[in-house]
Amino acid sequence: MKIRLDGKVQDRRALWLEGDKVRMIDQRLLPHQVVLLDIYNCEDMAEAIRNMTVRGAPAIGAAAAYGMVLAKNQGMDLQDAAKLLKSTRPTAHDLFFAVDFMIETMAKGEDAKEAADRYADTIVEKCRLIGEHGEGLIANGARVMTHCNAGALATLDHGTALAPIRAAWRKGKPLFVYVSETRPRWQGMKLTAFEMVEEGIPHAIIPDGASGHFLRLGTDIVIVGADRIAANGDFANKIGTFEKAVLAHELGVPFYTAAPISTFDLKMESGKDIPIENRSPTEVTEVDGRLIAPKGSAALNPSFDVTPHKYVTGIITEIGVIKPSEVHKVKGARMT
Ligand code: MRU
Repeated sequence: MKIRLDGKVQDRRALWLEGDKVRMIDQRLLPHQVVLLDIYNCEDMAEAIRNMTVRGAPAIGAAAAYGMVLAKNQGMDLQDAAKLLKSTRPTAHDLFFAVDFMIETMAKGEDAKEAADRYADTIVEKCRLIGEHGEGLIANGARVMTHCNAGALATLDHGTALAPIRAAWRKGKPLFVYVSETRPRWQGMKLTAFEMVEEGIPHAIIPDGASGHFLRLGTDIVIVGADRIAANGDFANKIGTFEKAVLAHELGVPFYTAAPISTFDLKMESGKDIPIENRSPTEVTEVDGRLIAPKGSAALNPSFDVTPHKYVTGIITEIGVIKPSEVHKVKGARMT
């Protein structure tokens, strides 16, 4: 992705390995400050994933893969490193997939850095293909709705949900994107809108509660990301996804999720067993560290919800657009 760093426009991924450290865009500071954070050890990588310096399922996976490289370099026990990294966020399947990929690949004697770089390159290529396959779903002049940030920041480059939008725009199709703000952490307003501005794509930020209104008044397609997709096509994504899917279904608007193979958890039969991360209530009650709710009010903060497959028109993957009933087909997609 093109990003302005140190006063220059540079082509950068959301994170990368450079010498003995991993450099990552601190996503907590966007959109007004573009700052790189350097990570030198596995413990700090685990904390960066936990505190959402890096977030978005495929980017979390790549961060964890590089976390295993740092663990190896610091002489840490690799099983302990795997356990620590896997304890950071429970919902995104990519995290578990990437750590297991690294453990298996390193056990075969492959160089850790080469394996992690290969993992990152593969994710980027898969996201590019998601863009290529999904672009055809976006008609000339389409109004597209998305939620959270499933863009380059969330995947290293291109994005999942944003990849087809980017590809359609780059092909010259006029389009307009409704970006739902995504309370309580504002990934839509802060991150997706940032990517739209950088790419020059026409868009408007809408309150999460306005989704139904704009679906009814004229949205042609909804495309969101996914954190984990079960074997029956149910999927977890950022809280608020489920209600958009139900409304889209009711209003006859096609509803797609987009994800690479690393997000599919074929061992999970349905979405009912997907672990849902609960984050701090203060993310709901406070803005910039200032309490805005009454003192004494409790708050609940589930970070993800599960959308049943019956609301899903299709899943955009690196092997093409599949129906929820065709999830088994991704078994044919490989990481290398
Ligand atoms: O809590 P986050 O910001 O990590 O949640 C991100 C999402 O829900 C994304 O939609 C999902 O990870 C897909 S990212 C390509």
